[in-house]
Amino acid sequence: MVKQRSRYICQNCGASFAKWAGRCENCGEWNTLLEQVLQPESEVKGALARGAVSGKNLEAVSIDTIEPSDAGSRLSTGFSDFDNVLGGGILLGSVSLLAGQPGIGKSTILMQTCARVSATGHRVLYISGEESAGQVKMRAVRLGASSDRLHFASSASGNDIAKTIEEGGYDLVIVDSIQTLSLAEISAAPGTVSQVSNCGNLIIRAAKASNTAVIIVGHVTKDGTLAGPKVLEHLVDVVLNFEGDRYGGFKTVRAVKNRFGSTTEVAIFEMADKGLTEVKNPSEALLSERQNTDGSIIMATIEGARPLLVEIQALVNSTNFGYPKRTASGFDINRLNLLIAVLERRTKLKLQDKDIFINVVGGMRLNDSAADLAICMAIASAAAGRKLDEKIVVFGEVGLGGEVRSVIAPDRRIAEAKKLGFKNAIAPATIKDKFVLPVKDLRSALVSYMNKK
Ligand code: TYD
Ligand code: MG
Repeated sequence: MVKQRSRYICQNCGASFAKWAGRCENCGEWNTLLEQVLQPESEVKGALARGAVSGKNLEAVSIDTIEPSDAGSRLSTGFSDFDNVLGGGILLGSVSLLAGQPGIGKSTILMQTCARVSATGHRVLYISGEESAGQVKMRAVRLGASSDRLHFASSASGNDIAKTIEEGGYDLVIVDSIQTLSLAEISAAPGTVSQVSNCGNLIIRAAKASNTAVIIVGHVTKDGTLAGPKVLEHLVDVVLNFEGDRYGGFKTVRAVKNRFGSTTEVAIFEMADKGLTEVKNPSEALLSERQNTDGSIIMATIEGARPLLVEIQALVNSTNFGYPKRTASGFDINRLNLLIAVLERRTKLKLQDKDIFINVVGGMRLNDSAADLAICMAIASAAAGRKLDEKIVVFGEVGLGGEVRSVIAPDRRIAEAKKLGFKNAIAPATIKDKFVLPVKDLRSALVSYMNKK
């Protein structure tokens, strides 16, 4: 009898090992190795032994003679910003992955999209592997989704779903979610790398063959550990990340990969009792409850391609016991520690016995280096109990020498601040604009503008 051989595949990074171990040597994750039985070697050898070159010559054509895929065949989601994120709507024949934490609103946004697409005369199928028909119906009622062109099926079989898509009976198919699917041929549990990538592959092939648009839902855990969506990212055409606070606040959808559009657009949503609504003027909403206390700074940031004003709050308290605590919500904690070090070294602030808390209002996450100056000024303002003028926004990157450096898209930031009635911007000195109060370094920024008690 041929001895069965198996490999151990890391569910986090996909690395393959001959022996099981508690920790993946490649990525360092614990408890991620799963056994996978290999195809008997004799079969593989047979195929390879037949000859070094077994393929045939490819028939290549001149690029000038190729017809582009029809640009008109896009389905509108009913959300104009979401359409922009997708590059102008959902392209027929494309496969997108919508990844996000459980409970963020993936099923909700897709049901709303289904409602809209079916209302415009297209045939839509919603396949759920996690919820029963009754549960999905409850959500559909709540969202006002009803149409005889909107169909529902409950299935966890990758084979059946791929077959259904291949038949071409639908223009748009939603698969909720990839982690629940499995193929009969593979013995691994649903959600493992081999199931996710093989199911994904089958579905993608079926979508291309029948020119059906498919959106696949993928769960990721808070730290993004689950492998499923990560392996799929290479296979699909569009990868959408759904991020934000699960319990209220703004949620953003952005494309991290898009074969048919740019990845600079974002759509900002808010969850209401009748589903998600687009937030058209996020800056205004974010600033509406502002109280000008010490530690509060308005920053002009860029989300994707659009400018946004957000409030950054800092709280500085004396440390009662042990090491000082530093906590940040919506901002990178390592970057915060770095900025605190710069503040201590380059200005006269003493922070070594202070707890420091940073909060970005509205559940936003700042990935913008221009937040540095605003964070530093918020900390200084809270530590000294001094306020910045209410009508001033702040942006700029801070270097280790305490110098304030230029950032991308200053014009758009300034335009947004002007639009919302701000009078000035504390910003890098390289920007030539009357609106800007230019600053060269952190110290002069604090000395010149942090004056009011
Ligand atoms: P859901 O879309 O099921 O999240 P996911 O599919 O990403 O796991 O729902 C997200 C949350 O939104 C859920 O906890 C309930 C809430 N919700 C509303 O507040 N209003 C609504 O109209 C709907 C449909 C859901
Ligand atoms: Mg769901």
